[in-house]
Amino acid sequence: MNKDNELAQQTTPSAMKKMPFEKYTAFKPIPLQDRTWPDQVINRAPRWCSVDLRDGNQALIEPMTPDEKLRMWHLLVEIGFKEIEIGFPAASQTDFDFVRLIIEQDLIPDDVTIQILCQAREELIVRSCEAVQGAKKVIFHLYNSTSTLQRKVVFNMSRAEVIELAANATERVKVHTDVLKSTGTSVTLEYSPESYTATEMDFAVEICTAVMQVWQPTVEDKIILNLPSTVEMATPNVYADQLEWFIRHLPERDKAVISLHTHNDRGTGVAASELGLMAGADRIEGTLFGNGERTGNCDVITMAMNMFSQGVDPQLYLTDMPNIVAVSEACTKISVHIRQPYAGELVFTAFSGSHQDAIRKGMAVRDSGENPQWAVPYLPIDPVDVGGSYRETVRVNSQSGKGGVAFILENYFGVSLPRPLLLEFSPVVQKLTEAASGELKPDAIWQAFVGEYIEAEGPYKLIDYKLSSGPEKSQCCQASIKVGDNQIAIEGTGSGPIDAFIAAMVDTLNEPLNVVDYQEYALNEGSEAQAICILALNDEQQNKYYGVGISQNTTTAALRSIVSAVNRKWR
Ligand code: KIV
Ligand code: ZN
Repeated sequence: MNKDNELAQQTTPSAMKKMPFEKYTAFKPIPLQDRTWPDQVINRAPRWCSVDLRDGNQALIEPMTPDEKLRMWHLLVEIGFKEIEIGFPAASQTDFDFVRLIIEQDLIPDDVTIQILCQAREELIVRSCEAVQGAKKVIFHLYNSTSTLQRKVVFNMSRAEVIELAANATERVKVHTDVLKSTGTSVTLEYSPESYTATEMDFAVEICTAVMQVWQPTVEDKIILNLPSTVEMATPNVYADQLEWFIRHLPERDKAVISLHTHNDRGTGVAASELGLMAGADRIEGTLFGNGERTGNCDVITMAMNMFSQGVDPQLYLTDMPNIVAVSEACTKISVHIRQPYAGELVFTAFSGSHQDAIRKGMAVRDSGENPQWAVPYLPIDPVDVGGSYRETVRVNSQSGKGGVAFILENYFGVSLPRPLLLEFSPVVQKLTEAASGELKPDAIWQAFVGEYIEAEGPYKLIDYKLSSGPEKSQCCQASIKVGDNQIAIEGTGSGPIDAFIAAMVDTLNEPLNVVDYQEYALNEGSEAQAICILALNDEQQNKYYGVGISQNTTTAALRSIVSAVNRKWR
């Protein structure tokens, strides 16, 4: 066999390894040539409804305890949800008890409406009404599956029979909620043709129209028609087409709020809800971080923050994201992924050197106040807006360059290195990151800097020094220096303390020193303020040696930096 054939044999997948894709049928999009939704822009927030305490809760390995439900409830209220689905009280005693608890303990703010889910069965409708007695405002969420497949394989019902079931159930809701209304509860009906996306569109319109005919909504007192993508089956544009088609064909559209409830089986639950809004929907149901059945529901945080990043008020308050993450994790026992949009630990972090550099430069332009609008490379929003900080935007591993090192020293320790020193120090950090095969935390970078420059090993150590006035405004410096194992006294005179100390080193130790770069500034504010002195010396061959000294006393810092530079020269 020649070499080419051999290679071809190795790379052709064997029949055994083929994916059984023929098993699946492509979703058939609806014909809609004159769609208008692609030209729309989302420029205002929808009505949000959290379903964390129902769809989210029912999908948990360990459903929330009453205390956890309460904690989640308070968080949702704090975030600003005005509609919150709190359970399926006719199906679960825990849910029933929770509904009673928040009603009886008067925990529902006046501007918040609770929503409960109920199947299209009279005994469940009656029990649901019992659960919400005494509430001021209730959304009664009635659903039945309308999907072509489920009608055939689950219910064995014709279209007419399914319409009758929905209409009858609506009639029962009307009768039983009339009693509630007579005791002062305001009731809105939400109807979901469950598995809407897997339903023939004309049938979806027909069944929703039948429900509307029974309920008799008005323009002032609308019905909510919730059109779920119960299982996500196609690209989000297909959902948008289905919605545009539905909205165009629904009689009395002005008497209905069109609500969306997407799941995330294909990973595009948020995109589907977004395109659905563009197609004319008014309301979004979803959960925090997309918790929910299987791959989850539409993640309302991502969706709201996407709006925010476009300059649109999301009408949800997400400024304390760390707290939202903490409460959500505690209640659901699911950790928020480090890459979760807007909330994950790493979503505002750059490890790559070129990204770090661009962020640093972008932030410098921003600090100059040139442009009030946010425009920093690699950062879609300002992390500060969601309770984060600029500091966390840069972390250092072996992929990072000098920009990352400079950033950490500047932002965590207030130390700004001159470029040649940065170029000299960065490889030290690079070596450490490679040895660690991971991240080097700011403290470790600082320790490396201290070891390399501030505690630079070498022949000399400054033990003590004394300054006095010399002739003609000069300064005299007497210092005690350890050289190897010996302690010696040196003395010199100069125009200032640094000059005098250098003169002492040159004269007594025969060290030719020439200062070519010098900067000194305060490291931290307050009475404990430390000064840092960064200085470079030249030797006779014009080689440059950097040294660094730190002390509460500026002169001590400067003299230490000189010793550090000389030690580095002798290393
Ligand atoms: O996903 C779904 O279809 C639902 C309905 C009950 C609205 O959760
Ligand atoms: Zn759902």
